Amino acid sequence: MKAVILAGGAGTRLRPLTLATNKHLLPVYDKPVIYYAIEKIVAAGIYKIMVVTSGEHIADFIKLLGSGQEFSRPQGGQVQIVYGIQNEPNGIAYGLYIARDYVGTDDCLLFLGDNIFEDDLTPHIKSFRDGARVFLKNVPDPQRFGIATVNKKGTVTAIEEKPEKPTSDLAVTGLYLFDSTVFDKMVDQPKSARGEYEITYINNKYVKEGKLEAVLLEKEWFDVGTVDSLLAASMHMQEKERRKARHG
Ligand code: G1P
Repeated sequence: MKAVILAGGAGTRLRPLTLATNKHLLPVYDKPVIYYAIEKIVAAGIYKIMVVTSGEHIADFIKLLGSGQEFSRPQGGQVQIVYGIQNEPNGIAYGLYIARDYVGTDDCLLFLGDNIFEDDLTPHIKSFRDGARVFLKNVPDPQRFGIATVNKKGTVTAIEEKPEKPTSDLAVTGLYLFDSTVFDKMVDQPKSARGEYEITYINNKYVKEGKLEAVLLEKEWFDVGTVDSLLAASMHMQEKERRKARHG
């Protein structure tokens, strides 16, 4: 299994914070946003990671993360971070496509770098066989997300991107497990109305095969694309650290 972290984007909703830097380099409490993704991935036992970002900011990511030398594996050994350049902000599927040769015939974990998850991903990585898996969370504002319909077996039967009339409140979060057929599913993919290569299009191809599984996240999830969520994530992490200090 390899991991691909998407860390591009203009961060328009975070301006002026993002006028001079990339949102994944902003702080959440005591660490840059992207640290949370890397730590979560390494804790789940994945040690080969590609960070995909724009050419404009790639030097800053290399300065911060290097080859991954600061992120040690639990049993020792190297974490290896490599980089991919995304020239145009053309959507999530487009960002993943940049990692196609890197992923090769492996399975991959796609991680949107501005998402922070508290659930342990280890069991989901270990139990993954083939097809694809999305990680869902109940939200109060389903119009803002990809929304999944799930049957009793836990198989997704449809995903609708930012629906006007949502069929559920189950948002697809920025975390996806794919087998290596994901790249074949991108052939002839059209751009969406908002001009992007949508990951929802790819997920719906797995739906057609009956191979998209759903996992309902149990713990906190933050998408730090706005000032309020960035602050909420920081306060949550501060509280967590304080609790740790109190109880050891
Ligand atoms: C993207 C996906 C959407 C998903 C969301 C999670 O939306 O298209 O399905 O629910 O990430 O953060 P975007 O942030 O590109 O609008």
